[in-house]
Amino acid sequence: MSILFLILIASVMGGWQVYYNGFHQPNYLNCASNTCPYSFKYSGTLTSALFSNCTNPIGTALILSSSQMMASISEQLNNLKANGMNHTLNLDIYLLTQWNGDYLKIEYKTQNYQFQFTTQNTLQFSLGGCNSSQHEVKTIQIAFQEFTSMSYLKFRIVNELNLALIKNVHLSYYLCHPTCRTCTGDDYNECTSCFSGVSLVSGTCRCPIRTILTGEPPSNYRCLNFLFINLRTQKKKIFQTL
Ligand SMILES: *[C@@H]1O[C@H](CO)[C@@H](O)[C@H](O)[C@H]1NC(C)=O
Ligand SMILES: *[C@@H]1O[C@H](CO)[C@@H](O)[C@H](O)[C@H]1NC(C)=O
Ligand SMILES: *[C@@H]1O[C@H](CO)[C@@H](O)[C@H](O)[C@H]1NC(C)=O
Repeated sequence: MSILFLILIASVMGGWQVYYNGFHQPNYLNCASNTCPYSFKYSGTLTSALFSNCTNPIGTALILSSSQMMASISEQLNNLKANGMNHTLNLDIYLLTQWNGDYLKIEYKTQNYQFQFTTQNTLQFSLGGCNSSQHEVKTIQIAFQEFTSMSYLKFRIVNELNLALIKNVHLSYYLCHPTCRTCTGDDYNECTSCFSGVSLVSGTCRCPIRTILTGEPPSNYRCLNFLFINLRTQKKKIFQTL
């Protein structure tokens, strides 16, 4: 499941760049009381969040086990693209107990996202979780309007009888400049193709003469006749002064 997911990110998301990639590698992480790779912490005490080393498959997972456990990523990433668009959080949650309409809550600033899960009775044995235990895996995806700091991100379980692990946490954003359809980087002159009606000139998407680029980024860009736009705005001005 998670391997498939990584391949999907690499191949399908051509214009997307992953800038945070945690809890996916096949080795154990060494967590001290106040530091841990990927910087998940208890939001209350700011000590390291709870982890488990999994033997099959080998790897480390974040444990969410009761209402008291709230983990938040406190890392400020250098390559966090605050101006980038369409930030997307993806993660896999492994439900290790029977969930019965119970909630996982993810918080970003004042926004709250609730995911309600009901597992099949009984949980299946399958590989890919932790220690080959019974589990059900769900993939969560959240699109954020803007994403300026990792420290606002919090995870919480509501029913304290539930146990779940989190692995494969990714944050990505849409790499291309809004004027490009596809690209090699996020600058305006790194386009490899343009939206319809717009021409690619040395990596830049340009409209034909006497037209300008208009519309909502990133998929609605159109070259509109400049005279037409000018006329409309002038009319509006006249109307306003009358
Ligand atoms: C996981 O393994 C690492 C490396 O062997 C070890 O330092 C760490 O204490 C282990 N963590 C837990 C929660 O057992
Ligand atoms: C997986 O097995 C290891 C080694 O026996 C153990 O330390 C760890 O707590 C187990 N993790 C879970 C979630 O059961
Ligand atoms: C980015 O988000 C906007 C608004 O939600 C959406 O209309 C647009 O299609 C998204 N762009 C991509 C490349 O997914």
